[in-house]
Amino acid sequence: MRGCSSAPDKERSVVMSYRLPVELSKCYRLLNHGPTVLVSSAHGTTVNVMAAAWSMPLDFSPPKVAVVIDRNTLTRQLVEGSGEFALNIPSREMAKATLAAGSVSGRELDKFRAHGLQTFAADKIGAPLLDGCLGWLECRVLPEPQIQDRYDLFLGEVVAAWADPRAFRDGHWLFEEGQPRSIHYIAGGNFFETGTEFEIEK
Ligand SMILES: Cc1cc2nc3c(=O)[nH]c(=O)nc-3n(C[C@H](O)[C@H](O)[C@H](O)COP(=O)(O)O)c2cc1C
Repeated sequence: MRGCSSAPDKERSVVMSYRLPVELSKCYRLLNHGPTVLVSSAHGTTVNVMAAAWSMPLDFSPPKVAVVIDRNTLTRQLVEGSGEFALNIPSREMAKATLAAGSVSGRELDKFRAHGLQTFAADKIGAPLLDGCLGWLECRVLPEPQIQDRYDLFLGEVVAAWADPRAFRDGHWLFEEGQPRSIHYIAGGNFFETGTEFEIEK
């Protein structure tokens, strides 16, 4: 029957994309190149920063984000203690510090001092924001103990957001020639920068 999609037919399988199987242990890498962020956090007198490749927007209004924060990290302890975190979006100039912030725990090292990371005060939360980044999202945790515990996944409401106007203006990334761009983590210390923008005619 034409138009019926119940069984795969031979004709359709002929035009199917050429593809190779991806090991399930590596399949996350197909989605992994969203902007890498630096999660900054503070609780009491302790402040910290870690890298995160697994973050995403979740809702428009009020704006929400999701980020994976492993249970063994110092960041997790500070975020659970304070109920707050910031997502800082670095550019290539900060790639080395980003990798370093994701390779050692703040329990062992003051990462701000070790990697020359300067901070400034956030507007709505206690966690500091990282100087030199392209964007900053100040977030309050929306408590979801079950998914935090089971999946290390934290949801946050964005209560303030900022951007470097060289990179993001009037609600849009610019990605202009010679201007800083967001960086995207692949694996094994490899990143790439956001490429050329193109538009689809509607
Ligand atoms: C590029 C990169 C991305 C990472 N992404 C995540 C992530 O999304 N979630 C996570 O829990 N850990 C992630 N990590 C690992 C943490 O950043 C790492 O465990 C860090 O040392 C934790 O620091 P802390 O103990 O000072 O909080 C990533 C590491 C790198 C290098």
